[in-house]
Amino acid sequence: MSSESASPFKVLVIGSGGREHALCWKIAQSDLVSEVICAPGNAGIGEVARIAPVSASDLDAQIALAKEEEPGLVVVGPEDPLAAGLADRLRAEGFDVFGPGAAGALLEASKSEAKELMERHRIPTAASRTFERSGIAKGYLDGCTAWPQVVKADGLAAGKGVYICADLKEAKAAVDAIMEEGRHGKAGVKIVVEEFLVGEEASIFAITDGDAVLVLEPVQDHKQVGEGDVGPNTGGMGVYSPVPELSKRIYKQIEQRVLLPSIHMLRREGIEFRGVLFIGLMLTEGGPRVIEYNVRFGDPECQALVRRLQSDLVPILQATARGELGGIDTPTWDPRTVVGVVAAAEGYPQGPRKGDRIDGLEEADGVEGAVVFHAGTRRVRALDGEDEVVTAGGRVLTVTGLAKDSEGARRIAYAAYDKIRYAGKFCRRDIGRRREARREKAEA
Ligand code: AMP
Ligand code: GLY
Repeated sequence: MSSESASPFKVLVIGSGGREHALCWKIAQSDLVSEVICAPGNAGIGEVARIAPVSASDLDAQIALAKEEEPGLVVVGPEDPLAAGLADRLRAEGFDVFGPGAAGALLEASKSEAKELMERHRIPTAASRTFERSGIAKGYLDGCTAWPQVVKADGLAAGKGVYICADLKEAKAAVDAIMEEGRHGKAGVKIVVEEFLVGEEASIFAITDGDAVLVLEPVQDHKQVGEGDVGPNTGGMGVYSPVPELSKRIYKQIEQRVLLPSIHMLRREGIEFRGVLFIGLMLTEGGPRVIEYNVRFGDPECQALVRRLQSDLVPILQATARGELGGIDTPTWDPRTVVGVVAAAEGYPQGPRKGDRIDGLEEADGVEGAVVFHAGTRRVRALDGEDEVVTAGGRVLTVTGLAKDSEGARRIAYAAYDKIRYAGKFCRRDIGRRREARREKAEA
């Protein structure tokens, strides 16, 4: 490692969600770091980092900020600026950046591109077809005999561009919504129609510099808005880690059959990838198959991971940014369980209400074993001149609990959650109880 890393340096984190709060929280604990700056951040991030009010999507302003602050490391949290080429531009200015360039980010930003690559490199995934014209897509669907079919907007749609269609009528309605009505804007210029996969969903996170690979601990999201996995998909309503139902054998199989071939695929395509590859999978009877690639940490998965990671995260991120990940020791993880519950705002995921005052945050953080990460929150000056924190997004907070077992972690997370008050607050009460719920269902 070069000599400038000997003295503490600034780290710039780009983004404003629960994931970025978790990253800032962990990075701020590092002895290597003199200051964490986050742009644009949120109310909670302001407690562990200096906020720079620069939008993550304003690339020019982000570059200007980096030039002014001269961070020793830049960490790009969300997919949109990565897809827009922010990491490439920062690298061109000489910065060490954790996060892939636009070519790597295309794995997430274009489902059709990702599909094409997977087919070319024989990565197991659902069979699919890509369409640029709605009439042709509908003609294809007319001929489909196996249902359901899955209709997806090609581009970035915040996890909301996927339609599981039970029959032809639903599938045509999905095509119209995406391509004719423009529900996902430019993301819907193309669509992918794919085979419906049956099995358990799992995901794997791996940090890579394109050469060395560091597989992170398993973590399980809960995508649907309602308890018992019902209702529309969200960005994620809660997490737990580790994932006891994901056996070591299956995890290894995922690594061998999907993860490592995916890294090879990037290398053979000449795509330099320095960041985290997050693969969503279906564990089918025929083995693991890729549902989607993401090119950044999951949110709220990241919140669970940082609570279990005992090693300093900064050397890992920095080595990745520099292409030196191979020289990093295997990190150590807390063997205990984390449960993270997302506190959402009424109306999420469709149209969340915003601007409601949040109380009880300190009490929640005071619950032993709990850490509250902010997502859609904002600090505002109230009429009485005091600062207050208000809701500013659909997912407002991730309330995490760490304990010896999952029941203990749940107890802490929900005890802390219950201390928080704002109008329209809701959560899923079944986070971390998948196995129990399934067993109860089987017994009933
Ligand atoms: P994605 O945004 O591609 O991760 O899709 C969102 C969710 O839709 C996934 O987490 C799955 O639950 C579901 N899904 C996507 N593609 C398929 C598929 N081919 N078969 C079954 N379920 C799918
Ligand atoms: N929690 C799922 C995601 O970040 O895409």
